[in-house]
Amino acid sequence: MLYKEIADSFNLELDASNSIEDINRLKVKYLGKKGIITEALKGMSSLAPQERPTHGQALNQLKREIEDLLSKREEHLKQIDITRRQIKESLDITLPGNRIPIGSLHPINLVLDEIVDIFVSMGFDIEDGPEVELDYYNFEALNIPKDHPARDMQDTFYITEDIVLRTQTSPVQVRAMQKSSPPLRFISPGKVYRCDSDISHTPMFHQVEGLMVDTDITFSYLKGVIEVFLKEFFGRNVSVRFRPSFFPFTEPSAEVDIGCIICKGQGCRVCKETGWLEVMGAGMVHPKVFENVGYDTSIYKGFAFGMGVERLTMLRYSITDIRLFFENDIRFLEQF
Ligand code: PHE
Repeated sequence: MLYKEIADSFNLELDASNSIEDINRLKVKYLGKKGIITEALKGMSSLAPQERPTHGQALNQLKREIEDLLSKREEHLKQIDITRRQIKESLDITLPGNRIPIGSLHPINLVLDEIVDIFVSMGFDIEDGPEVELDYYNFEALNIPKDHPARDMQDTFYITEDIVLRTQTSPVQVRAMQKSSPPLRFISPGKVYRCDSDISHTPMFHQVEGLMVDTDITFSYLKGVIEVFLKEFFGRNVSVRFRPSFFPFTEPSAEVDIGCIICKGQGCRVCKETGWLEVMGAGMVHPKVFENVGYDTSIYKGFAFGMGVERLTMLRYSITDIRLFFENDIRFLEQF
C-alpha cells in the first residue's frame, strides 16, 4: 500500500469514528502488532538497502501523524462525553422541592408538659418508676394485700404471680420514699395499664401521681395545691370540690371534682346531669404505707393524689372518645 492510500483510508475512518471504542479499534488496525503501519515497517526488509532510509522516514512520519490524530480525536470524544454527562446530571435548583411533613406534639404530651410545668413552678420534683412492676409495689406496699377486694377496682395485667403491668403510678410513691427521707415533694407522670377498653377506657393510659411528705402536712395543704393546679390548668373561674371516697393507701380519701366546663354546672351529657366532673383521686397518706417504707408516723404526715391525663386532655379539648388518642390519625393529631 502506498503512504497516500494508507493516509486516505485512515482519514476516512477517523472522520467516521464517534466513540472511544472506534478509536481503540483504529489503534489496533493501524498501529497494533499486526497493524497496517507495523506490517509496512516489517515489509521494508524486502527493499534494497539504499531505499530503506527514505521509506523508513516516510513510514515513521506517517505513524507519528496517525498517533497524533488518534490521541487528539480521543481527547475530543472524551470532552464530548463529559459535557454530555454534565448536562444529564445537572439539576435545576429553581424547581420546587418535595415538602417533608413536619410532625407536632401529641395532645397527651402537650398536656403532660403543661401539668409538669405547673407543679414544677410549685417546687415539685419529677420521679420515675418502672411500668413492669412488682406486685409488692403496685399493691401490697400500698396497703392492698393479695385477695383484698380493693384489687377488683383495677383490672390487672399479670405477667407472673408477682409481676404486673402497673395499674397506677402510686407504686412510685413507695419507691421514692424507700430511696430518700422526708421532706419530699414530687410528681410522677407515666404510663399505666388496665385490662379495659371502651369509649372512655384504653388498656394503656397516662397518670400523674403526686406526693408531698413533711412534718406538718395537713389536708388543707392538699386542698391548696390541688386547687392551684386545677385553676392554672382549667382557668381561674373553675369550681373545685372534694368528695369523700376510698383508697386503701390514703385516709381520709377524696375524689376531686371540677364544675362541668361544658355546661358550666347546669347539667349535660358529659357530666351525666350532675354539673360536676371527676378529675382525680387524693388523700392523706395512710400510716400503713409510711410503716412499709420505715417513716415514723408520729413525726411525718403527707398527702398524695393521682390524675388521669387522657381524661384531663379530653375535658380541655372537648374530645368525646378516648380511643382517638391512639388511632394515630394525622387529621386528628395535627389539630393540636
Ligand atoms: N392511684 C389511684 C388510682 O389510680 C389514684 C390515687 C393516687 C388516689 C393517690 C389517692 C392517692 O385510681
